[in-house]
This record gives sequence, structure tokens and C-alpha cells, in this order.
Amino acid sequence: MNEIKAPKGTRDIFAPEIYKWQYLEGAIRAYYGKFLYQEIRTPIFEHSELFSRGIGDETEVVQKEMYTFKDKADRSLTLRPENTAAVVRAAIENKLFEAMAPLRFYYIGPMFRYDKPQKGRYRQFHQFGVEVFADDSPQVDAEVIFSAVDFLKKLGIDQIQLDLNSVGCPQCRPAYLQTLRQAARAEEARLCPDCRRKIDGNPLRIFDCKQPGCAEASRSFPLIGDHLCAECRDHFAAVRETLSWMNVPFRLEPRLVRGLDYYTKTAFEVTSGQLGAQNALLGGGRYNSLIHELGGPDMAGIGFAAGRERIILPLEHLEAPGPKVLFVAYGDTQWLAHAVQLAEVLREEGYPVYIDYQGRNLKKQFKKADRIAAAFTLVLGDDEIKSGSVSIKNMASQEQVKISLKDLNEWLKKNY
Ligand code: HAM
Repeated sequence: MNEIKAPKGTRDIFAPEIYKWQYLEGAIRAYYGKFLYQEIRTPIFEHSELFSRGIGDETEVVQKEMYTFKDKADRSLTLRPENTAAVVRAAIENKLFEAMAPLRFYYIGPMFRYDKPQKGRYRQFHQFGVEVFADDSPQVDAEVIFSAVDFLKKLGIDQIQLDLNSVGCPQCRPAYLQTLRQAARAEEARLCPDCRRKIDGNPLRIFDCKQPGCAEASRSFPLIGDHLCAECRDHFAAVRETLSWMNVPFRLEPRLVRGLDYYTKTAFEVTSGQLGAQNALLGGGRYNSLIHELGGPDMAGIGFAAGRERIILPLEHLEAPGPKVLFVAYGDTQWLAHAVQLAEVLREEGYPVYIDYQGRNLKKQFKKADRIAAAFTLVLGDDEIKSGSVSIKNMASQEQVKISLKDLNEWLKKNY
């Protein structure tokens, strides 16, 4: 029979790597708790329309990368390719704009994109992200960006590069897009067929194309930075100033456009020299029209999302040890009941405890204790049962002591 494998672009995550994931999740909760973000969990699938309207029909994500299917009632559903649109949908539907303050959310979970798998790029990948609503101040942009960079640094990721741009707003972008279209039409012959199609749709996407001809041609295109309205210009200047107060170095990247259509004003990406071709650790920006476009109030939003697989990659050095196990062994099956009860007491005290129930001799139980990398093996044999004690072997140093059961807790407090 053919072996059934995990679908292409997905992976199983298990020990010891899973300890790093758990460590990372704990670090996210602790760090973002300090900024008053609250966790939000939205469904893994949503109505397809949410993403086509929210992310934009012209984007690669919507055109090529969505896992869309019909359910039994002929509804079109999509496995979420990102979570910003879903968090906005959840806030509107649950009236969180009225019920919650401050409107700051973080999420951790799987996303799905029909992408070409390679190192650091998967079809099921995981993001952690944050979204802040109802605050249009440039300082909050800077705070969100600061937190992203500071969090990565605290994890021990270095060689971080922050790229920053402003992509304008509905006031200034339409006129700029016309100018960009004219420039792109003049260079049409050098553009790939995909980019030729983008001229009439969203010509900003041409800046994203990796084809040498398109990259070359787009170098002479007009830049959004030179066409911002006064409000966008002032906002962007204040973001940069606040980042300098916060000592966050950045590089202005006037061709940074991001792959999703909802962005207005600030856009940013963080890359790491420690990664290969897929070097984007995180990306985000402001989206001041999205909430209204999805049926909510006219309210500002900003956020970012980071790829967890990419954050884990540079963390090879991270020591995220598994549980420190106490292995309870019994010299004879007649002492199994005592062993079971001892294990229960120890677990109540908070220790991870393992018993081998297969009734094997002590030698085999010790072998098993070694295999599961137990820290201590606690033996209940004839002598121990008679004297109300337990023998404890430190599996690393091989030292052994025998202590009375009533002193066990005290001993563990000192030696565990
Ligand atoms: P994004 O740039 O599409 O933005 O994705 C954010 C991050 O997710 C990327 O920087 C990358 O680390 C990771 N990522 C994306 N695709 C893959 C993949 N196929 N495999 C592994 N990792 C991947 C968003 O998703 C926006 N929702 C971010 C945002 C939040 N903007 C405002 N709020």
C-alpha cells in the first residue's frame, strides 16, 4: 500500500522543535501583554468574499494563492491566507469597536497560501500578528514597528533590516497611479506579460516583480514618495521622527509596496540577513480604509504579521528544553499501586512524571528512563516499601540517594 504523506508545503512539528514553538508563543503572549494587546482567535476558514474584498482582487494572494472550496451548501469558503481581514470582520460582527478598549489584538495561528514551497515558504505556515484599531497617530505606527523589531531582537535574532515607506492614501494615490501607468506604458515592451496586465489594474504591483526586465524598467518609474499629499507627508515624517526617538534604525525603501491592497500611509517590512531567499521575517502597515470597506465604522487600523517558521529558522541556538521528567520505577509489579500513587502525588506537586506500565524488570525500566531523557528515576523496591522510602538516581551524574518518603518533597525542592 502507498504510504500517505503530508501534503506538499505542509510540515509536522514535534519535539524537540515544538519546544521552540511553545517558547515563542509564551514570549509573544508575555511581550504583547505589556502593550495591552489581547488575543483573538478567528476561524481557519471564512467566506471567500472577505478576502477578495479585503485583500484585493488584483493581488497575487487572491488571484493565485487561495485555497478556495465549495461546501455542501454551495457556499464559497477560503482557508485564511492572512488574518487582518478576518480580525476586522470579527471586530465588526461582534461590535468590538463599542465593547472593547483599547482595540489591540494579537493572534497566533496557521495561514494557507498556494505558494511554491521552498525553505522558509510553505503552503500551511504560521503567523503571529498584531492589529491596532481606532488610532491614527503616527506615534502608534512607530510603537507597532518598535515592538516588532524589539521583540525579534529580544529573541536573539540579529542582522535585522527594517524597510519603511509610505504608500499614500485615497487622496493622493489615484493621481500617482495615473502617472505610474503612463511611465509603465512607455516601458511596456520590457515588462513580463503579468506586469503588462497590472498596468491597468494595480501598477504598484510591478515594483514587486522579480523578473529582471520588470525590475530594471521599474527603476525609472515615478515614486509614491514624491506624490504624497500633505497629510501623508506629515504623517510619514512624524513616524520617522518617533522611530528616531525610539532608536529604531530604518532604511527608506521608496519601492516597498507590500503584496496586499489594503495598505494606506505607512508600510514596512523586516528582513534578516540570517535567512536565505525567503528573508522577510514580517511585514505590515496602516490600513485606514479597510474597516469601512468591510462594513465597519470609518476607523483607522495598523498591524503586522510575522512568519513563525522564519523566526524559528535563525533561532538554532535557542535552548528550549523539554520537560524535566521524574521516572517512577517499581522493583516488582506488586509495588505498581504504590508507584501509581506516588506519581499522582508528584504530578499534583507540578512535576512531569512517567511510569512504564509494561511490568518489565528494573534494568529495562532504567533503559526506558534513559530513552525519555528522565532527569531522576525514583525506585520503589522491596527495601523502599518496607522502610517507607524511595531511592532516587540522578540520571546525569548516576548518583543515588535513599530518602524517606516524607522528606521527598523537601528533597525535590532542593535538588530538582
Ligand atoms: P504578509 O507580508 O503577506 O502580510 O505576510 C507576513 C509574513 O508572513 C511574511 O513576512 C512572512 O514572514 C510570512 N509568510 C507569508 N507567506 C508565507 C509562506 N508561504 N510561508 C512562510 N511564511 C510566510 C500579511 O499577511 C498581513 N496580514 C500583515 C499585516 C497585519 N498587515 C497589517 N496587519
